[in-house]
Amino acid sequence: MGSSLHVVFRGVSKTYDGRTMVVQDLDLHVEEGEFFTLLGPSGSGKTTCLMMLAGFEAPSSGEIRLSGRSVQHLPPRKRGIGVVFQNYALFFRSK
Ligand SMILES: Nc1ncnc2c1ncn2[C@@H]1O[C@H](COP(=O)(O)OP(=O)(O)OP(=O)(O)O)[C@@H](O)[C@H]1O
Ligand SMILES: [Mg+2]
Repeated sequence: MGSSLHVVFRGVSKTYDGRTMVVQDLDLHVEEGEFFTLLGPSGSGKTTCLMMLAGFEAPSSGEIRLSGRSVQHLPPRKRGIGVVFQNYALFFRSK
């Protein structure tokens, strides 16, 4: 079904400093209704993945798709993703 909501990471990598890869070549596929958990030690890149999914960080390479649509150029407010931040945060919508 083309209308089902699913999340795809394809070859997603992320570096903040241009040297250390905090996420490296990540492929994952989450289907609608699936309960999916990221498990790993502190600093392994879990929050970074969620921030990339929500659009607060951009992948350094690779692609994230929501329901078949690349979200690379969509700001957080246009992705329809809810996030509970790990630390207190205010997110302002700017025009
Ligand atoms: N905004 C940032 N700028 C630079 N480095 C960052 C930034 N956010 C995270 N990092 C670094 O990226 C790596 C992954 O961090 P991340 O917060 O994604 O890990 P985590 O798996 O969520 O850890 P935790 O279990 O402690 O929440 C760590 O080395 C962290 O220091
Ligand atoms: Mg975290």
